[in-house]
Amino acid sequence: MKTKILVTGGAGYIGSHTTVELQNAGYEVVIVDNLSNSNAEVIDGIERITGIRPVFEKLDCNDMEGMKAMFERNKGIKGIIHFAASKAVGESVQKPLLYYRNNIVSLLNIMDLMPQYGVEALVFSSSCTVYGQPDILPVDENAPIKPALSPYGNTKQINEEIIRDAIYAGAPYKSIVLRYFNPIGAHATAEIGELPIGVPQNLIPFVTQTAIGVREQLSVFGDDYDTPDGSCIRDYISVVDLAKAHVVSLDRMLTGKSKANLETFNVGTGRGLSVLELINAFEKTTGVKLNYKIVGRREGDIEKVWANPDYANNELGWTAKETIEDTLASAWKWQLKLRERGIM
Ligand code: UD1
Repeated sequence: MKTKILVTGGAGYIGSHTTVELQNAGYEVVIVDNLSNSNAEVIDGIERITGIRPVFEKLDCNDMEGMKAMFERNKGIKGIIHFAASKAVGESVQKPLLYYRNNIVSLLNIMDLMPQYGVEALVFSSSCTVYGQPDILPVDENAPIKPALSPYGNTKQINEEIIRDAIYAGAPYKSIVLRYFNPIGAHATAEIGELPIGVPQNLIPFVTQTAIGVREQLSVFGDDYDTPDGSCIRDYISVVDLAKAHVVSLDRMLTGKSKANLETFNVGTGRGLSVLELINAFEKTTGVKLNYKIVGRREGDIEKVWANPDYANNELGWTAKETIEDTLASAWKWQLKLRERGIM
């Protein structure tokens, strides 16, 4: 019998790619998603790639009664990957209570229900945003947590603390916290990818939408940072590589290989790329010239951050494998597919 995993936010960008990798690895997946920032058609894309349709429950993790009923309908869930959360940094500054409620109550509900339903493992989606601007680069997991720059970032820190405290108090399950760097790209089949609603806030969707003509011009936020070309540096990781890190994390907990009940890993490539380098790589890979201009800095941006992924590489036996060219090509293929389908 296949091991059953609950993926909250499984219709979202990272959740859908992770569902594909879980099914490819032989897990059975139940998706819970309220579709607040995603679309039910994503389930069709997952089925087209894997040949398996995951169970889909349209439900908000904040709805405790609904979640209980979901666990009753789907008996035997062994692990949870908790993606469901609001993630727009700017919006979180405007609507802090919405962010605290969405991102914290949902985790509390899940953690309350886990022991009742015998769930043994929790993977939590955290972010390198917890490091703020690190003093030492590449940044490893022992770097200090810096004060959050937004309510969104604060919810990630608080959620990490909630998990830490519950495990310390003897919660009857294991947890792995994954701190993501910047996930980009799409599945190689272009059946699933990133689908931002409205004007994209993140770099890559803005790049591909500009390249295809949906947006007129990309603004590069600042070229006066203390970096070689003056633009900000990030660690861009393929969403498929990132998805695979979740599968190995679950395997580790469910097969008794964890070294502690709570473990935290950086999930990045170890390679820092500036915004201008990324634009250059995109143009080279796709052959499309990008219309961009340098504008002022974006408030709250970190100057430079990239991962030291050694701990994840050595302990999880996981390494980001895709080249930046392949990842950017997948992002472009996805954008072309959206055009073909008349979506964008
Ligand atoms: C941001 C958040 C991060 C969050 C992630 C999820 C901050 C500091 N970080 O990551 O916590 O997990 O979003 O959505 O807010 N850029 C441009 N032009 C654009 C868009 C972006 O030049 O139109 C630049 C940014 O200045 C940055 C880089 O591209 O240097 C990446 O930006 P983005 O994709 O928004 O990711 P982060 O800001 O790193």
